[in-house]
Amino acid sequence: MAAASSSRASLALLLCAVLLALASAGGSPLSSTFYDASCPSAHDVVRRVIQSARVSDPRIPASLTRLHFHDCFVNVSTYRRLSPGCDGSILLDDDLPAIQTEKTAPANNNSARGFPVVDDIKAALDEACPGIVSCADILALAAEISVELAGGPRWRVLLGRRDATVTNIQSAKNLPNFFDSLNVLQEKFRNVNLNDTDLVALQGAHTFGRVQCQFTRENCTAGQSSGSLENLDQVTPNLFDNKSYGNLLQGRAKLPSDQVMLSDPSASTTTAPIVHRFAGNQQDFFRNFAASMIKMGNISPLTGSDGEIRKNCRRVN
Ligand code: HEM
Ligand SMILES: *[C@@H]1O[C@H](CO)[C@@H](O)[C@H](O)[C@H]1NC(C)=O
Ligand SMILES: *[C@@H]1O[C@H](CO)[C@@H](O)[C@H](O)[C@H]1NC(C)=O
Ligand SMILES: *[C@@H]1O[C@H](CO)[C@@H](O)[C@H](O)[C@H]1NC(C)=O
Ligand SMILES: *[C@@H]1O[C@H](CO)[C@@H](O)[C@H](O)[C@H]1NC(C)=O
Ligand SMILES: *[C@@H]1O[C@H](CO)[C@@H](O)[C@H](O)[C@H]1NC(C)=O
Repeated sequence: MAAASSSRASLALLLCAVLLALASAGGSPLSSTFYDASCPSAHDVVRRVIQSARVSDPRIPASLTRLHFHDCFVNVSTYRRLSPGCDGSILLDDDLPAIQTEKTAPANNNSARGFPVVDDIKAALDEACPGIVSCADILALAAEISVELAGGPRWRVLLGRRDATVTNIQSAKNLPNFFDSLNVLQEKFRNVNLNDTDLVALQGAHTFGRVQCQFTRENCTAGQSSGSLENLDQVTPNLFDNKSYGNLLQGRAKLPSDQVMLSDPSASTTTAPIVHRFAGNQQDFFRNFAASMIKMGNISPLTGSDGEIRKNCRRVN
């Protein structure tokens, strides 16, 4: 009896210690219920705008999912710190000299898209609950809803991010690139606390959306112009499923940065076994993708009174 209650007490102490350690290591202060009181319709509003946008542009769910990734991977210097983060910095337009847009960094220029839909989401949210939902949270919500609408997994999006008032063009230039080696990709992911499982799971997002032939392994050899679009997943182009891993196993990934997860000499002991796992089991892929998206969405967000809630996602207030 006494032993049981003392072991319960030490369990509680251990739990406290773990929670404290998480908090001091930058564990997420974000919460899935953040807007429950202030903007209960947030999720529905974002979903409605994306549903309507994809009627005329079936690529939109993929494009919005990619924006969240390119937002989260970019370091932003604030008066407090230099850290990577999901803070809506990718949405800012040029406002020189103070703001140099990330939209023209190599990985984004003529490539990142979906910005007008983000504007539409912001406008719809500001009608439902003025000044409440941050642009960074719009990207996190839009990514989950987009994946779900395309047939992929659902997850509870953690919310409460605030928007950056600066951009970081140097860091945007350092976004993962289609010609990066496996080593470099692993290092760029490790820098933001994402491991090999996260790398393989997140690249599974290349199950939908398009790619310009200039970035593909075939490199426009059929004579197309460099920007001509191809499906990332030739089998089920607009569906979120595990088919892209099947393409990889057949040596038919479009992006060199996808194929290296299997073909790099060091892959056999790192990423390749994970590719095989996800190719054989969609549920396993979905579970891991959802977990990795939550991890990615937790990359050093601005919270509390840091940053701001932008009025216009393209400009600081
Ligand atoms: C690991 C490093 C990654 C590299 C090197 C990479 C590279 C690329 C490239 C080159 C394109 C085609 C862009 C174009 O042709 O304009 C693309 C498209 C895309 N990427 Fe990635 N990517 C990576 C990771 C990710 C992650 C983590 C996600 C999301 C979780 C993602 C989601 C997408 C989506 C959905 C598209 C299609 C976008 C559209 O159709 O508009 N990618 N990626
Ligand atoms: C972005 O692409 C345009 C062509 O559409 C080009 O004129 C411009 O120089 C590019 N910007 C950067 C920063 O490379
Ligand atoms: C981005 O942040 C990471 C870790 O916080 C750091 O190692 C890296 O040097 C930073 N990169 C830039 C371009 O600021
Ligand atoms: C990556 O991290 C997750 C936890 O976030 C863990 O479950 C998984 O085993 C790790 N994978 C590797 C290859 O270290
Ligand atoms: C395609 O060819 C261009 C021009 O030679 C080169 O710069 C680019 O890296 C190539 N792309 C791929 C994916 O190999
Ligand atoms: C995808 O997942 C299903 C079900 O888990 C599996 O049967 C299938 O072989 C997987 N791979 C491909 C490439 O579709």
